[in-house]
Amino acid sequence: MLAGKNVVLGVTGGIAAYKAAELVRLLVKEDATVDVIMTRNAAEFIAPLTFQTLSNRVVHVETFKLLVTSDISHTTLADRADLIIVAPATANFIGKFANGVADDMLTTTLLATLAPVLVAPAMNPKMWAHPAVLENVARLAARGVDFIGPEEGEVACKDIGRGRMSEPADILEAAEGVLTPPRLRGKRLVVTAGPTREPLDPVRFISNRSSGRMGYALARAARLMGAEVVLVSGPTALVPPRDVEVMSVETALEMQKAVKSAFAKADALIMAAAVADFRPAAPKDAKAPKDEYGDQLALARNPDIIAGLAKSKGKKLVVGFAAETGEADAKAAAKLKRKGLSAIVVNDVSEPGIGFESEDNEVRILFADGRSLSLARMAKADLAFEILMALFS
Ligand code: CTP
Repeated sequence: MLAGKNVVLGVTGGIAAYKAAELVRLLVKEDATVDVIMTRNAAEFIAPLTFQTLSNRVVHVETFKLLVTSDISHTTLADRADLIIVAPATANFIGKFANGVADDMLTTTLLATLAPVLVAPAMNPKMWAHPAVLENVARLAARGVDFIGPEEGEVACKDIGRGRMSEPADILEAAEGVLTPPRLRGKRLVVTAGPTREPLDPVRFISNRSSGRMGYALARAARLMGAEVVLVSGPTALVPPRDVEVMSVETALEMQKAVKSAFAKADALIMAAAVADFRPAAPKDAKAPKDEYGDQLALARNPDIIAGLAKSKGKKLVVGFAAETGEADAKAAAKLKRKGLSAIVVNDVSEPGIGFESEDNEVRILFADGRSLSLARMAKADLAFEILMALFS
């Protein structure tokens, strides 16, 4: 979402200004062009050179000096911006912005822009709770300005409460959200991800190689596209996306229960989880010596979660995933029919570098009405958007 975009980052005078340096680094890593505008107070906390080095661009501190030394005016940045982020935003800055004051480069740029604006406040919790600040925030929000944070925690002056600036990675995520068209706003999605773990005893289990990346990427993309998302996740090593409700499960039976309850209130179910088909028939409550297990393991079949829910799907969208080796389309088409799905996303895991445990994937989507769509090989994070656009077009 951010690649090739022009982002203006406003930095105002709070101690959290040092965290804005990390935000610049993250934005640049996403291939955004970042123009930093600092207030004079911000330059007391952190040197403009830091931002200049990270952004590889001239940093703007003062309006009038700049007009003399550069051909870039406040309106150039304002016109060019795809997004303006202000992080950290002090109470003083928020007051000025809410009241249309334009007495420095940053506030002037903001008055002159049509770009979306994302504000990450940072201040003492008592200041954040002051009616003047809250009124200013409400006024800006009513004008369409997006806010992220502040977060609960200890602030620099050791007070505890809501006032900490959100972490740079979360601000980056929010920025992607601001730039993503809200195609799924008003929808509730259940996404499953990861493997399930079927215990033999409290220590040993049967599982599979699913990393959960595809499901997590789908949950994140759906959230950024404006949906409310419940992520039902088996054990993975991944950090859940922001603003997504997570239901953590271990076994297929637990996953079935969680999905059933979440799907009752949802518009769509996307099962990217690799549900274990079998579980040990008689798991032990305590670990036993190996000889007690014998050399044959009795298994019981797990329920087919998606097939069970697809039976009563009505107008809801129920989408499965199929990782196949060889004759992938034919096998997936048979599954689509047998399970009564709206669509199935299929990938051939015999291809090196895609599917399980990989960063990339390459899929085809088969729809119940006979349509199909191929999506080129790309990072799972990007593919997730393409899949959702295809499913909800
Ligand atoms: N699935 C499910 N419950 C199961 C097994 C699978 O809901 N017990 C879902 C998966 O999450 C996926 C789809 O069904 O969305 C297809 O999964 P796959 O493992 O390919 O289906 P199986 O029926 O297990 O196929 P196979 O007979 O090839 O193992």
